[in-house]
Amino acid sequence: MQRVTTAVLREMKEKGQKITVLTAYDYPMASLLDECGTDVILVGDSLGMVVLGYDSTLPVTMEDMIHHVGAVCRGAHHSMVVADMPFLSYRISPEEALRNAGRFLQEAGAQAVKLEGGREVADAVRKITDAGIPLMAHLGLTPQSVHRFGGYKVQGKNEEAAQRLLEDAKIIEAAGAFAVVLECIPASLAATITSAIAIPTIGIGAGSSCDGQVLVVNDILGMYDKMSPRFVKRYADLSSQIRTAVEAYTKEVRSGEFPGPEHAF
Ligand code: KIV
Repeated sequence: MQRVTTAVLREMKEKGQKITVLTAYDYPMASLLDECGTDVILVGDSLGMVVLGYDSTLPVTMEDMIHHVGAVCRGAHHSMVVADMPFLSYRISPEEALRNAGRFLQEAGAQAVKLEGGREVADAVRKITDAGIPLMAHLGLTPQSVHRFGGYKVQGKNEEAAQRLLEDAKIIEAAGAFAVVLECIPASLAATITSAIAIPTIGIGAGSSCDGQVLVVNDILGMYDKMSPRFVKRYADLSSQIRTAVEAYTKEVRSGEFPGPEHAF
């Protein structure tokens, strides 16, 4: 199967075919998502919370991300791999943003990068995309700004904020982004943005009108329960299954039931 490209995603939007996006942070999960035909694998900086045990995405570093993006790329042969740029890695200057974005393609093997923000990061978006690096933007509830928002809250609820988000979407499209994540905004606003721009919108807590949907894989599999936002749908309860398996193993080792003769040489 051929690799999903930005052109494929654009065509999917034009044809009204929904785009599937999930996060992954390591080789085994990336291999499974790739096998299942997930269009885009996002190595999100949600890594910080669901894998590294931090309270937010802010402590995640470039080195953390490069390490995990490399592992995901080794497992993904069909899905497009998008690397999330961590806190401050694209805010100091457009030059530094380009240098860091380039590392994800050159050192880790990703096909694209993602960063958070609208007009305030337009110069960085332009610099990165002019260098030939596909870039996914992220608007609405941008978790790296959690302290400015005062928590993980729905954005764009009043007329002025909604108008600003719509303008931001047009600005980052003009700056060269190939897609935009819309996180936690009213479904009606997401629908307006989706029809106002030609690039695909990928929603998370933004209703069903977006061109695609993204969720954190640990959330849909029931492997992360420190937060359970309303927009998550849980498709499995792997934490319980893992607990049951580990308890059974522990009991059998302690009782001497495992290993049996069939496991010995
Ligand atoms: O970090 C992440 O996983 C994300 C998605 C939830 C959009 O940014």
